[in-house]
Amino acid sequence: MKILVVGGGGREHAIIRSLKKNPEVSEIWCAPGNGGISYDAKCKAIKATDVEAMVAFAKEEAFDYVVVAQDDPLALGMVDRLAEIGIPAFGPDAKAARIESSKVFSKNLMKKYNIPTAEYEVFDNAKEASLYIKERGKYPVVVKADGLALGKGVLICEDEASALLAVKEIMEDLKFGGAGAKVVIEEFLTGPEVSVLSFTDGKVVKPLISSMDHKRALDGDEGLNTGGMGTVAPNPYYTPEVAKECMDKIFLPTIRAMADEGCPFHGCLYFGLMLTPDGPKVIEYNCRFGDPETQVVLPLLESDLLTIMLATTNETLDSAEVILSDKSAACVILASGGYPLSYEKGKEISGLTNGQLADASAIVYHAGDTLSDGVLKTSGGRVIGVTAVAGDLKTALSKAYEAGDQISFEKMYRRSDIGARALKALN
Ligand code: AMP
Ligand code: GLY
Repeated sequence: MKILVVGGGGREHAIIRSLKKNPEVSEIWCAPGNGGISYDAKCKAIKATDVEAMVAFAKEEAFDYVVVAQDDPLALGMVDRLAEIGIPAFGPDAKAARIESSKVFSKNLMKKYNIPTAEYEVFDNAKEASLYIKERGKYPVVVKADGLALGKGVLICEDEASALLAVKEIMEDLKFGGAGAKVVIEEFLTGPEVSVLSFTDGKVVKPLISSMDHKRALDGDEGLNTGGMGTVAPNPYYTPEVAKECMDKIFLPTIRAMADEGCPFHGCLYFGLMLTPDGPKVIEYNCRFGDPETQVVLPLLESDLLTIMLATTNETLDSAEVILSDKSAACVILASGGYPLSYEKGKEISGLTNGQLADASAIVYHAGDTLSDGVLKTSGGRVIGVTAVAGDLKTALSKAYEAGDQISFEKMYRRSDIGARALKALN
């Protein structure tokens, strides 16, 4: 089988390494890919959002299957366009991808089908949104841009002034472009956060191991929000009782709701949950694998990834095995100093042989680098994710940190407390 993976970060690298375990995979490509990924897949420099060019490339190369891993090409209908030319693809069509690409759609879906989530109101007018904030008068309050905003469209506002400013920036200054034509204003929830990535074929849902992201840039969950500085799996707060409650009250109702709305979801549905004192609630849905959750969750999947992916496309997930390891995994992100604000690029990365550690003590997933003349150089904010697997989380974490010590580039930055909260919860 000849496969194309669309995207170019650590998540796509993890997907590629898992797919390659299947002996049926004869050729694997990644577009656009990155320097480190090119050790594992042929890379083609096409932007993930360039739907026309990607579809033309898929046709020209006659791929048997395309995995669309990134949110924006899904929202732009890449899976629909591939279907039109007879190429099956992993991921939802544009209609189903609205579960991530429109917060108004997902919040209204949850309200209609009684799926637990934060209380909210929707506004398409800045004046009315501001009036509502003032009348409500409760802080913190959460202001969310409706559309995709590179994970930056959620603002937690501690007081009236910052909430009004958030509305102005999103709706009037159009800080996130068209994504800010509407806003969701919602209740602030508290509790541990859990990510659950799950496979679904529109009828059946099979979750992967739960995980915990670390979104803030600095130790102690301080500093700015990032795309994720590290992950651990399983998430200790996600007990079997919580898992059952989530399955009954959130996962199954969501899958049914999407089918009832005429947009059954195929692919990986990511449930971003908060375990509040009133039970688990949905913070957000993503229509794809999370990054860097995938980098801990896929190494703990014992069944064959390609077989499961094809089953989500062919609606045969019921009979596909999804066997999960009972081990733990940790991923520590090595970032460019300054990320998520400005940072320098082009720094030579040392410590790797053909993109991996010589002692293979951990897996190196490449997120933002280039390769030329055999030299890897940084090209992004998140550069590398180092994942280690072990019988327990403490060992996985020390292995990931020790492996990270072997890699270096100028101004490399990583958090030093990934997994600390999870370890505390285990004790
Ligand atoms: P999102 O981009 O929707 O994942 O939101 C980013 C982060 O904002 C989440 O991971 C939460 O930590 C936080 N967040 C979003 N919505 C709420 C809420 N209603 N209450 C508290 N925190 C929230
Ligand atoms: N790690 C969060 C996300 O992928 O959206």
